[in-house]
Amino acid sequence: MSKIITIHSSKGGTGKTSIAFNLACAYAISGKNVCLLDMDMRTPSSFHNLFPRPKRWFNDVLNGKCGINDIIVDATDEIGSEGKLYVGYSNPDIGAIRDISGKDRIWQARALKNLMTIRPELIRSDIDMILLDTPPGTDFISMNSIVASDYVLMVVKPGKCNLNCMKQMIDGVYSSLGKNYGVVENMYHKGQLSLCGSEVGIPSIMSIPCSCDVSVNGNCEVFTLTRTQHMFSTSIFDLMDKISDVLEIP
Ligand SMILES: Nc1ncnc2c1ncn2[C@@H]1O[C@H](COP(=O)(O)OP(=O)(O)OP(=O)(O)O)[C@@H](O)[C@H]1O
Ligand SMILES: [Mg+2]
Repeated sequence: MSKIITIHSSKGGTGKTSIAFNLACAYAISGKNVCLLDMDMRTPSSFHNLFPRPKRWFNDVLNGKCGINDIIVDATDEIGSEGKLYVGYSNPDIGAIRDISGKDRIWQARALKNLMTIRPELIRSDIDMILLDTPPGTDFISMNSIVASDYVLMVVKPGKCNLNCMKQMIDGVYSSLGKNYGVVENMYHKGQLSLCGSEVGIPSIMSIPCSCDVSVNGNCEVFTLTRTQHMFSTSIFDLMDKISDVLEIP
């Protein structure tokens, strides 16, 4: 049975997309069949440049023009992994981004219906993991991805000012929905007060160090493929093992 992991945050720019792509590739390298969906239609990822370009986008699924299996592309040959890697993207065209921003509640209600078809359509016999890279905050796509998921990976940046938002999301959304979740602190600097330490009472899975290499190249390079010994990659492989333990993935 496929496991669905939603990668989420209360604020933007915490590293969700970087972690989602690197984690998906890490799982595929380790022999798992993975499907990664970029569901952030307002700020789509730039990783589609690295993989085979899709003919259709996630936007088309929400617009009811096609099903999820029509938009995902097989990127296994590109990464040369043992497991399969399927990827699906939001449309990065500025016109498509503007279009989404102008949608009303009637459209959202219809889109929600289309969103609900994803899980049963995607649970193909050969997919072990479905990773959903979502927009930050309480966007309707994020909320519905969380509802559909087996595990929520919350990505936070260190710093006391992020604490309130983080706690509200955990108490008000993850816990109230009874979701299994884990917090990963990303872009951590040595000596910095850890947000997830016992001091603030939020158990974190791990802290990923801040790295200039990632901030410069991380938007167009998947480190778990190209720099397997880099500290960002080793952190992601470690994160993968920890999530697998929680979800009892062999
Ligand atoms: N550990 C890290 N060290 C340094 N830079 C990082 C690290 N992780 C991510 N970044 C950089 O931070 C920036 C934001 O990352 P990313 O786009 O993955 O965040 P996001 O949470 O998906 O943002 P959004 O909320 O806009 O979708 C990128 O430039 C990325 O390369
Ligand atoms: Mg993102």
